[in-house]
Amino acid sequence: MKNLYLNPYIFFLLKEGKTYVWDYKHHTQFMLEDDYFKRLKEFSQTGSLTTLEISRIDHELIDGNLLSLKPYEKIEWKWDELGLIYHIGTQDVYGEDDDDNNDESFIKNYYEFCKRFTPHEEYSYISYTGNKITLPKPDLEKLDNSSILKAMKERMTSRYFNGTGVSIKDFSTLLFANFGPLHGEWEELKQKNLKILGMRKAHPSGGGLHPIEAYIIVFNVENIPAGIYHYNVKGHYLSKIANPCSYEQLKQVLCGQFFGDGISFGVFLVAHFSKVWDKYVHSRSYKDVYLDAGHVSQTFLLTATTLSLLTWETAWFKDTKVSQLLHINGISVAPLFFLGIGNGKKIAVPQRLHNLIKQESN
Ligand SMILES: Cc1cc2nc3c(=O)[nH]c(=O)nc-3n(C[C@H](O)[C@H](O)[C@H](O)COP(=O)(O)O)c2cc1C
Repeated sequence: MKNLYLNPYIFFLLKEGKTYVWDYKHHTQFMLEDDYFKRLKEFSQTGSLTTLEISRIDHELIDGNLLSLKPYEKIEWKWDELGLIYHIGTQDVYGEDDDDNNDESFIKNYYEFCKRFTPHEEYSYISYTGNKITLPKPDLEKLDNSSILKAMKERMTSRYFNGTGVSIKDFSTLLFANFGPLHGEWEELKQKNLKILGMRKAHPSGGGLHPIEAYIIVFNVENIPAGIYHYNVKGHYLSKIANPCSYEQLKQVLCGQFFGDGISFGVFLVAHFSKVWDKYVHSRSYKDVYLDAGHVSQTFLLTATTLSLLTWETAWFKDTKVSQLLHINGISVAPLFFLGIGNGKKIAVPQRLHNLIKQESN
């Protein structure tokens, strides 16, 4: 008697009249004849079966690591299969020869990789044609004498805003310092006569590609009509995308969270995946785009805190509704995070929520 175990890291794909099995841990895929699919299906109840003798089909499935004579390790995972497939399926995606420890061959391989995947055009900026609002020069001096430790200690997620405005100077400074070319041109690359395919900002970004763009909802910013805008990085101006959005509309797309009521403006960090996927061809890089968003978010929050503004942030929103609001397609261009900025009180637990908690505990 032999025990046979089903590889737990597989899913099936029906495409063009064929059945494929995809081992997302080992990055292998096979087209399955019906007999093989039927055999694998027999394992679906318990993940293992006992057999008197190993058939030819079983042998082949063992060879393909779809079945094993040894049990697979237990998986600790509390989210759904979809999350597991992405989590595991984007691990260890690099080829075996990448493990070569020789610096010379690493450099050669890396250079070849860059030549193969890097687009030929210079870094491309996202630009909209809507009405332009020119922003004043940023006031970087305001940030010059600040203490990073002070900003780190003072930053907090506030959930009470009073609707008062933000000066256009601070608004402009915040956008430039966090999304603009703070360092100017990429001098080192220029000096080395290299093609400039990325850019530098206050926060790092995979390949310098900076896929995160700022889409801004203005409620109360000096000299800027309420509305929805895109921040043009190259020209340091806003392009109008849509008419004003009310706090009520914002709350609806933020799943009912009223914490943003009274913010002066909000920034949706929106990923333009197409900036990344020609160079980083594996979907593992989806994670890097989120990392980019995390970096810009923290820099933005610290800058706003330094300018004595209060901040709130959320990743909890209805993606499709946000995309409709921002007039983006939601797939290749998709919202990842929201930053709310304004004045008010440093309160983490809003009064209405606190009242309920107190009521319950009485
Ligand atoms: C990825 C991420 C998602 C968050 N989502 C929400 C959210 O949906 N709603 C909210 O009110 N706060 C949200 N926050 C804020 C956290 O609740 C907050 O950072 C945490 O309570 C710690 O407080 P502090 O930021 O003042 O240190 C989020 C923060 C991060 C980094």
